[in-house]
Amino acid sequence: MADDMQAGGRSDGRFDPRRWAAERYVQDGVTVRPLSCAIGAELEGVDLAEAARDDALFGTVRELLLRHKVLFLRRQAITRAQHVAFARRFGELEDHPVAGSDPNHPGLVRIYKSPEAPNDRYENSWHTDATWREKPPFGCVLRCVECPPVGGDTMWANMALAYECLPEAVRARIGRLRARHSIEATFGAAMPIERRLALKAQYPDAEHPVVRTHPETGEKVLFVNGFTTHFTNFHTPDNVRVGQDFTLGSSQLLQYLISQAAIPEYQVRWRWERDSVAIWDNRATQHYAVMDYAPCHREMERAGIQGDAPF
Ligand code: SIN
Repeated sequence: MADDMQAGGRSDGRFDPRRWAAERYVQDGVTVRPLSCAIGAELEGVDLAEAARDDALFGTVRELLLRHKVLFLRRQAITRAQHVAFARRFGELEDHPVAGSDPNHPGLVRIYKSPEAPNDRYENSWHTDATWREKPPFGCVLRCVECPPVGGDTMWANMALAYECLPEAVRARIGRLRARHSIEATFGAAMPIERRLALKAQYPDAEHPVVRTHPETGEKVLFVNGFTTHFTNFHTPDNVRVGQDFTLGSSQLLQYLISQAAIPEYQVRWRWERDSVAIWDNRATQHYAVMDYAPCHREMERAGIQGDAPF
């Protein structure tokens, strides 16, 4: 329970996400500073190495993650082993087929960008991680190892809020839709054809509901992103009325839904410093790494946590 119910809770004890998001509060000794009313909070006074060992502290961080969807921490001078140990509290880690992992710490994916290393993958598109998997990740713990003097921020969007704000007619139409997600759509697209086809053979497309139900909060989440190629059960003549005189066909509707993550009111933007950490719930968010720092270096290490099949 929160130490200060006035700050974030309601006097009748019911959870009100908008009120929680508005004010700084303390929960179980952790100071929580929301960064927007839509998504994201910075935690103060938490050492992630300690949170990996301390069940109560880890439980508080996990609860706050469900509430705010992305958590930020500064001054986490942790080792790679401590980074992995903390992320492992959430579940098993997974490697990434395109971005390599640290050889001594499987599951700790290196996202290193420099003028010398050619860029063969792109995080500057709105995406939910690895939805081309049957079981996309639960979430990630991302640590900044080296950040450019300017630029290189990351943004996250609250996709439950994006769903909630859709016009009623759209929500009614998409409730039963399903869509295909492909690794070809982003990572593969930057590769020579043979490499792309080999990648796709190894990681076949996945199909997911367009609106997923968050398995822990019960929220409805808009679940299409840059990996989504098409609806699998949308009949072409069945256009969707969005406004008074405005209807959308299948591919227009998909692009409309994908574009919702780009609405600033659903977002938070984080300025990195060395040893800053972000922890996000991949089941309820999308993110976008801003690539505005060339010719500078940027080095990030990401522990991705295995997830469940969306329903
Ligand atoms: C990612 O897309 O998972 C990486 C985000 C970042 O490098 O900021």
